[in-house]
Amino acid sequence: MTSGRTIRVQTPQPYDVVVGRDLLGQLVGCLPPGVRTVGLITSERLSANAAAVRNNLIAAGLEVCEITTPDGEAAKTAEVAATCWSALGEAGLTRSDAIVGVGGGSTTDLAGFVAATYLRGLPIVQLPTTLLAMVDAAVGGKTGINTPTAKNLVGAFHEPAAVLCDLDRLRTLDTAELVSGLAEVVKCGLIADPEILDVVESDSTAALDPGGDVVQALVEKSVAVKADIVAKDLRERTSHGSDVGREALNYGHTLGHAIERIEDYRIRHGEAVAVGMVFAAELARLDGRLGSDIVDRHRSALRSVRLPTSYDRADWESLLALMRVDKKARGDVLRFVVLDGIARPAILEGPRPDLLAAAFDAVSG
Ligand code: GLY
Repeated sequence: MTSGRTIRVQTPQPYDVVVGRDLLGQLVGCLPPGVRTVGLITSERLSANAAAVRNNLIAAGLEVCEITTPDGEAAKTAEVAATCWSALGEAGLTRSDAIVGVGGGSTTDLAGFVAATYLRGLPIVQLPTTLLAMVDAAVGGKTGINTPTAKNLVGAFHEPAAVLCDLDRLRTLDTAELVSGLAEVVKCGLIADPEILDVVESDSTAALDPGGDVVQALVEKSVAVKADIVAKDLRERTSHGSDVGREALNYGHTLGHAIERIEDYRIRHGEAVAVGMVFAAELARLDGRLGSDIVDRHRSALRSVRLPTSYDRADWESLLALMRVDKKARGDVLRFVVLDGIARPAILEGPRPDLLAAAFDAVSG
């Protein structure tokens, strides 16, 4: 019997996220009854991992159509999605079959998008292998690919049938990847659960140990934050003022995505989001909403797990232009998730240009 804590995501079609170790034995039980063929979508770097998954499915009598996609954001293109659709067609998947996504956030985003679109929707079980994918990308049903203009501009909401977060997968992860995932963990602390910040700040060394109980606790708490938010606002309505639904999960992402795009995705998502959160905190301080102590807490929590808090490799005007095509923008009006305090997200619409520039100055040193 495998072990793990189960967090139920109470959306209209509820599903479980299991956080634990040695979870592969639970995979077949997560597939809907009647599945005969599984489209197994993974990335080049993870072929060894995928082999174990494939063998597990084959041992259960299932056919497997394995599709290996490029690593990282290079997977999130219309061309790669089309390759997947063709492979699934050649393998003869029908509406009673399913997809399994194995990989980091880019792979689970792509696999989710393919599952959302092929035959107008196949069930998907996500097996995230990075911290970032466990606490964010694989949970909540957002799927998507990039366009040349910006990140995640094409996508669909498609909830998984289940998510298995096998923490043993984190043992082989580069420290830099683990650090990147911790940005989304700190984000959950800032927008919803200050206990996460307490855990990160009180033992940052343990937060960076993939084999330890602290990482397990952080993943469980972060998934619980996300489950709670998406249960209340699955499809990300447009929020106003302090009535913030799923958009809260985009804290730090408006500038973060612009930095990723300008760097041609050579910067890790979490690093860009970390800078974006400090920027948002500075913006909130300049707007008179947030005290300097909480801005300082952003910097100290992020630095304690080796995340960057400043960025100076691109000019403000170029980043501003990229932020205007962010999904949160409405017409000409820029919108930012900010905080009125820890765990008090709010939407700031159309901030004054001088405040925006000053907030950027504060993170570009
Ligand atoms: N990654 C943000 C969301 O799932 O809404």
